[in-house]
Amino acid sequence: MVILITGISSGFGMETARLLSQEGHIVYGTVRRDVEPLPGVHYLKVDVRHRDAVQNAVQQMVKREGRIDVLINNAGMGIGGPVEFATEEEIREQMDANFMGLVHFVTAVLPIMRKQGKGKIVALSSIGGVMGLPFQGFYSASKFAIEGYCEALRLEVQQFGIQVVVMRPGDFSTGFTASRKKTVNADAMQVYRSYAESMGKVEHDETGGLKPQVLARKISQIIRKKNPRHGYVVASLEQRLSVFLKRVLPARWFAKILGNYYKL
Ligand SMILES: NC(=O)c1ccc[n+]([C@@H]2O[C@H](COP(=O)([O-])OP(=O)(O)OC[C@H]3O[C@@H](n4cnc5c(N)ncnc54)[C@H](OP(=O)(O)O)[C@@H]3O)[C@@H](O)[C@H]2O)c1
Repeated sequence: MVILITGISSGFGMETARLLSQEGHIVYGTVRRDVEPLPGVHYLKVDVRHRDAVQNAVQQMVKREGRIDVLINNAGMGIGGPVEFATEEEIREQMDANFMGLVHFVTAVLPIMRKQGKGKIVALSSIGGVMGLPFQGFYSASKFAIEGYCEALRLEVQQFGIQVVVMRPGDFSTGFTASRKKTVNADAMQVYRSYAESMGKVEHDETGGLKPQVLARKISQIIRKKNPRHGYVVASLEQRLSVFLKRVLPARWFAKILGNYYKL
């Protein structure tokens, strides 16, 4: 298969590119900085926030390979802090990288997949895309946006044989934690007294989380499936349970559980 993965400089993207290339697929991956290349993987330089750069990268790839079977939209980042204190610049970066990045890639690949009469789009959401995580409000908003967009997209493109799969990982140990842009504003710390402790808990859970290879293996299985599910939660038992509880419990009860967990 010819596969395009966004954000392969580290974490899920890197491990997925490594695995899929080892499995014999033709793998293209995007980066925005120079990295040690993975053997057999083709690199494209793109900041996913820039529509024209994304269009160019997809055109280059399709010119060389003549098709694209799978898009894995993985590139993303997180900002952390009380929503009240996030700056407009931070909020825009969050939405542009996570949500508009996906939109740019999907817009670029759809005409090609439509002509082929088939294709798979795998979008990285998060369990933070099904529940609003405190002190990661804009991160959650970007992932909720991905969820809503993919739900609508799936209905529109199924007539062309295009499948849309949403991945919802729990806590994983990747470069994500170190790259998070956190609010360090002293007022924010003072007003939201549980912020520092709560963020410490988040970081502790992430660094002690699952290995990105687990998600890479899951993605490899999914792209080979004829009829994949619409979404997959890949997480610890506790986090899978939290997704289930979010679905079945009254909202007030679930908020209480989540608030207790984050010491709010
Ligand atoms: N780790 C977790 O616990 C977790 C849980 C749920 C969902 N996720 C999601 O999984 C995806 C991958 O994250 P990860 O955990 O593998 O983190 P990571 O190791 O930090 O990798 C993120 C990748 O996205 C790239 N990226 C970020 N902003 C970009 C931009 N504007 N343009 C181009 N590339 C950009 C990064 O490039 P640079 O190296 O240049 O920054 C990097 O290659 C993200 O969408 C994240 O939200 C992660």
